[in-house]
Amino acid sequence: PRRIILDCDPGHDDAIALLLAAGSPEIDLVAVTTVAGNQTLEKVTRNALAVGTIARIEDVPFAAGAERPLVREQVVAPEYHGESGLDGPELPAPTVALDARHAVDLIVETIMAAAPGEITLVPTGALTNLALAVRREPRIAERVREVVWMGGAAHGGNLSPVAEYNAAIDPEAVRIVLEAGWPVVMVGLDLTHQALADRSVLDAIAAVDGAPAAFTLELLEFFRGTYREQGFEWPPVHDVCAVAYVVDPGCMTVRSAPIAVELHGELTTGQTVVDLRHPAPASCVTSVALGLDAPRMWGHVVDALARLA
Ligand code: BDR
Ligand code: CA
Repeated sequence: PRRIILDCDPGHDDAIALLLAAGSPEIDLVAVTTVAGNQTLEKVTRNALAVGTIARIEDVPFAAGAERPLVREQVVAPEYHGESGLDGPELPAPTVALDARHAVDLIVETIMAAAPGEITLVPTGALTNLALAVRREPRIAERVREVVWMGGAAHGGNLSPVAEYNAAIDPEAVRIVLEAGWPVVMVGLDLTHQALADRSVLDAIAAVDGAPAAFTLELLEFFRGTYREQGFEWPPVHDVCAVAYVVDPGCMTVRSAPIAVELHGELTTGQTVVDLRHPAPASCVTSVALGLDAPRMWGHVVDALARLA
């Protein structure tokens, strides 16, 4: 199995991404780290521990990281995720304990203790922790197998007309991560807007026994409501796609392309600028996910929930 660190800000889609990681035999979850984003660090960390409790994740450290972006003021997203960051289901009191280490220390220690090329980083929020980690220990850039990030977009945005939320809330961190030299797969809105939890998906999850599937259904019902107010009939379940890429890269088409991030635009700050004009140069280490086999991906989610039951 692929050894991953999931760096997240749960968040409905982060929570389901964590369940997919925990329930997939293709993945060995080695750590879960949290970063401020959808809600405050305190709230998203509590949410991560609650999801870990529902999934009965054992022997995996959970650690809290950055409580705000590198440079900018914090932006939270109650219009999508509610005041708790995970509104909808009732959350259990966590039985999973929080690791005393800072997430950045845990990320660095885990990567440096593993063999080169062994750890994959899967950030599903702002890239603050990853940027801090690679500044703290630059050698992690050549030891990580790849970074699979849910964020950005080649076309369009959600926080603004051209900027995706995870990119826009900490664009300076995006720049550091894109320029670190490690391979980065950007699983952005181009891909995740194809990952809709539609009626067929809800029905398939409803047919699975156990608390993790029931919890997922409640998350998706709440998420459907907030996305409806944003003009979507069915919610895109963004973060699940980053984990799904690690589980089964064949369910996506990914293209090598140079990616940069806008830091100074009057209207475009946080936009990820993806150069799709030409074939990428051989030296290019960034790539963008563009096409999704959605039924195949949701099949992995359903299988994972059944395994966790
Ligand atoms: C991203 O923003 C967050 O609200 C979601 O959890 C996801 O990571 C989508 O733009
Ligand atoms: Ca997220």
